[in-house]
Amino acid sequence: MPIREITTKPYLDQKPGTAGLRKKVAVFQQPHYLENFLQSIFDCVPALKGATLVIGGDGRYHNRDAIRTAIAMAAANGVARVVVGQGGLLSTPAASHLIRKLGAAGGFLFTASHNPAGPDGDFGVKFNIAGGGQAGEGLTERIYAQSKTISRYRTLDDIELDLDRRGTQTIAGMSVAVVDCVDDYAQLMQSLFDFDRIRDWIRRGNALRFDAMHAVTGPYAQRILVEQLGAPAAAVLNAIPLEDFGGGHPDPNLVYGKHLVELAFSDGAPELIAASDGDGDRNMILGRGIFVSPGDSLAVLAAHLPQLPGYRDGLCGIARSMPTSRAADRVAHAMHLPLHETPTGWKFFCNLLDAGQATICGEESFGTSSAHTREKDGLWAVLAWLNVLAITGKPVQAIMREHWLRYGRHYFQRHDYENLPGPAAEAVMQAFAGSLANLRGQKLGDWEVTLADEFSYHDRIDGSIATGQGLRVVCGEHARIVMRLSGTGTQGATLRVYLERYEHDASALHWKPADALAPLSAAADRLGRIGELTGRRAASLVT
Ligand code: G6P
Ligand code: ZN
Repeated sequence: MPIREITTKPYLDQKPGTAGLRKKVAVFQQPHYLENFLQSIFDCVPALKGATLVIGGDGRYHNRDAIRTAIAMAAANGVARVVVGQGGLLSTPAASHLIRKLGAAGGFLFTASHNPAGPDGDFGVKFNIAGGGQAGEGLTERIYAQSKTISRYRTLDDIELDLDRRGTQTIAGMSVAVVDCVDDYAQLMQSLFDFDRIRDWIRRGNALRFDAMHAVTGPYAQRILVEQLGAPAAAVLNAIPLEDFGGGHPDPNLVYGKHLVELAFSDGAPELIAASDGDGDRNMILGRGIFVSPGDSLAVLAAHLPQLPGYRDGLCGIARSMPTSRAADRVAHAMHLPLHETPTGWKFFCNLLDAGQATICGEESFGTSSAHTREKDGLWAVLAWLNVLAITGKPVQAIMREHWLRYGRHYFQRHDYENLPGPAAEAVMQAFAGSLANLRGQKLGDWEVTLADEFSYHDRIDGSIATGQGLRVVCGEHARIVMRLSGTGTQGATLRVYLERYEHDASALHWKPADALAPLSAAADRLGRIGELTGRRAASLVT
């Protein structure tokens, strides 16, 4: 099959955000759009030549087309072997694991995570490097630069490929292995968790509910939770992956997972209620009568991890993104572990994981994972919680109450102002930045401001420095306001305001987060002039 060199013109908007290149499907359907971006990757990563490339996606609309394009281009660019999930499916953590396990030179992950799917929805592509982590800032910049000057790409015409047939096929000398998307991942989970204890816990009548939201985790949950751990089939909701995610918004949080919150607070609620997002890397955890905030989940899992089989040798460190609540810091302190604070974006954890400086990482955006892969991992968090419930024999609520009693409670909320005109969002950031200058030493409600700055991160492992990573006002350990613009949206700008308040008195551990944080919310509005500059009276999404 002859390799074709196709002449093309650059698109100038292929700058990846927090997690890859994400655009409306229609943008990706423009002639040569995806090809330009993929060729830019091939051009910037010569190691792909003669090597193994992992390919998979979250199953959303356009996934199969994109995978065909990618496989044809891989063959034309000299890749030796492609390993692709059957039907084009691979969850993000499973893809990262496969890259690691196979020693692949990288992977293409076709996903726009939790963003809605379908012809009018979003599509996306992420490039993960050897080792399984997302491409870092430097490589991402080079790929973007290449996409702005690209003039030709390499591909093959009309390849014959059956994505649904497991086994090896050959395309122009390149071998294509179509693999079951769950096998390797399920094996990994078995090596980390005590499946016998969990099975026993379920057998004793403890109920669980997992919502796969018609996205990629359906087959994973079906195999692991139902077939391997013995949960009844009804424990997995919306298990069939659909191209439009059933018209839903597979973002497991208090808004899009509202039905799960209602279930958790209903009579006869299951012991554990959980969900994952479109590509399987996020998680939401609820227990009977309680929602576990992601920052708390990170802290509780870190505290219990050494009791779980895969972590018996102990932890080497804990990492969280800067806006994430500081609950994990207290656990790290008690366990005499280093605590790393990184910018938003999972990629910043990868160097720490590679260097053996962190075992568990987490973000407020419903992401938690450990060193077993280089992405956050929704089902991992669910299994970790199940394992904790099974060994402690306590309900989620008791675990949280005991945790707060010991460490104190970090009340936390994120207020999102979505789809703002860019200039309005920028204006708020500028107003907030302007107000930081004289804030130190002043009072913010009852608390004194100890730090007011813009966060930047010095990665001591590769020496890189990431600047402009969010504005913050810190009142010692008591309170914090963080403001930044989202790097994952595809429509307008999203302003994120993160509020955190710490209380350790036993009488102050059971307030409603909204009440506890109301003074900080008002302060954020005042300092950033949010209402005045955006015309919005309230956030459009609170998690
Ligand atoms: C994705 C990334 C996370 C990030 C989240 C929010 O899920 O994988 O690392 O925390 O998006 O990012 P944003 O820039 O929109 O706040
Ligand atoms: Zn995701």
